[in-house]
Amino acid sequence: MTWWRSAAIYQIYPRSFADGNADGVGDLAGVRARLPYLASLGVDALWFNPWYPSSGADGGYDVIDYRDIDPVYGTLAEAEKLIAEAREFGLRTIVDIVPNHVSHLHPWFVNGRRELFWFRDRPNNWKSEFGGSPWTQLPDGSWYLHLFTAEQPDVNWTHPLVRAEHEDVLRFWFDRGAAGVRIDSAVLPVKDPLLPDQVDGEPHPFVDRDELHDIYRSWRAIAESYGAILIGELWLPDASRFAKYLRPDELHTAFNFDFLACPWDAARLRASIDTTLAAHAPVDAPATWVLSNHDVTRVVTRYGRADTSFSFGAKRAGVWSDVALGTRRARAAALLAMALPGAVYVYQGEELGLPEYEVPADAIRDPMHFRSGGVDPGRDGCRIPLPWSGASPPYGFGSTPTWLPQPDGWEGLTVEAQDGAPDSMLNLYRGGLHLRRAFGGGMAWRDAPPGVLSFARAQGGSCTTNLSSTPIPLPPGELLLSSVPLEDGLLPPDATAWLTPA
Ligand code: NOJ
Repeated sequence: MTWWRSAAIYQIYPRSFADGNADGVGDLAGVRARLPYLASLGVDALWFNPWYPSSGADGGYDVIDYRDIDPVYGTLAEAEKLIAEAREFGLRTIVDIVPNHVSHLHPWFVNGRRELFWFRDRPNNWKSEFGGSPWTQLPDGSWYLHLFTAEQPDVNWTHPLVRAEHEDVLRFWFDRGAAGVRIDSAVLPVKDPLLPDQVDGEPHPFVDRDELHDIYRSWRAIAESYGAILIGELWLPDASRFAKYLRPDELHTAFNFDFLACPWDAARLRASIDTTLAAHAPVDAPATWVLSNHDVTRVVTRYGRADTSFSFGAKRAGVWSDVALGTRRARAAALLAMALPGAVYVYQGEELGLPEYEVPADAIRDPMHFRSGGVDPGRDGCRIPLPWSGASPPYGFGSTPTWLPQPDGWEGLTVEAQDGAPDSMLNLYRGGLHLRRAFGGGMAWRDAPPGVLSFARAQGGSCTTNLSSTPIPLPPGELLLSSVPLEDGLLPPDATAWLTPA
């Protein structure tokens, strides 16, 4: 089965999607009630950020028990129902697996199974992915490694039990109908067992280690036996190293962060698309197109800033954005991403055009903010509970207070407000996601003026995005969809149009 090669996958951050029991926190009941909404969007699968019992130190990425559901979201039985119901709506379910670390409240850590972690007498010079040292000292004087927060000890993948446990967890969810897994921090789990200091010019002691490929080969065999898929979160700048994980007996696909991080610039986007397709072709893996997720700045905010690129280290609070301009570009970018060959991801709220909302200082939850010493505003701003209806918080999301505060002024962004408005972001996403199903085969660039990206798909039509500052004529074909109305038959700046085959 190859549904995943061209799928549209909707990302659900369970805490903020929909609140079924009105406690201010999203839950499975909320998702179940919104399955018709998700099906009508035109997506093929749902990826759930971690929904397991967790110590709550890193938005659920600190897992206590992989075989259960956090009580704040519901029960395991309810998750099973949700997976089955979603399938009846034509929606497959993808769960999140976090092999690099567990919660400090996981039984392995609580019961002192030190051989399953990385304990040492003294720290080395490594840096935490969230800033600061990745070593914490216990009262007995020993130190343990955690590449993220102290509540997320890294597990030791040289131990056979770690391997066996993860393989069993995969089977556990595939047995319950999951159609795939998203693998968190997929280039980090294997360490140089000597834990040497990191030295420039030497092989990296914990990123992209060759031994990972063997682990993912055995995961692939398990996934294949269920017809399920593996999706890697691979933050790797080198496209050829990235593609190694997508060889036919390893992961099926991986998120395309190069495209996500790319500035709103025609030459840069074109280079990113070309590099992506060239890297994927030799391993025959489909590309993916990602504009946002639960870790990065909301796209309408980012595209309205002077610097439209994304990078973690550069995140600062209070950077001004022309959100109207950003929204216009995000509409154009959405149609560009949906028209490209491969799979496309939609992060909840992207289809509503939600901007980043930097929550007040006393509401900040994200450890990235605290571990950066307050320099990085953190990721809460893209994780705000969704606005469903009404004119003020909680906008139809259960009750107030919501677990993260929602801003005033989102009444025009609710699902209710956008539902019947033909020009809304929501209806653009619906239109695009449905029409893209007709696109197939490869793509070929067409000649276009500077600042314009124009390509034809082998089947379904063509896509033209105008990133220049002047309106442009369109290539031959009938208009299928455009991100803004054409002006005198011309495609205005910061806009995309889809046309039937010439
Ligand atoms: C990547 C996840 O997307 C992010 O949210 C999390 O903080 C880290 N991995 C650690 O699990």
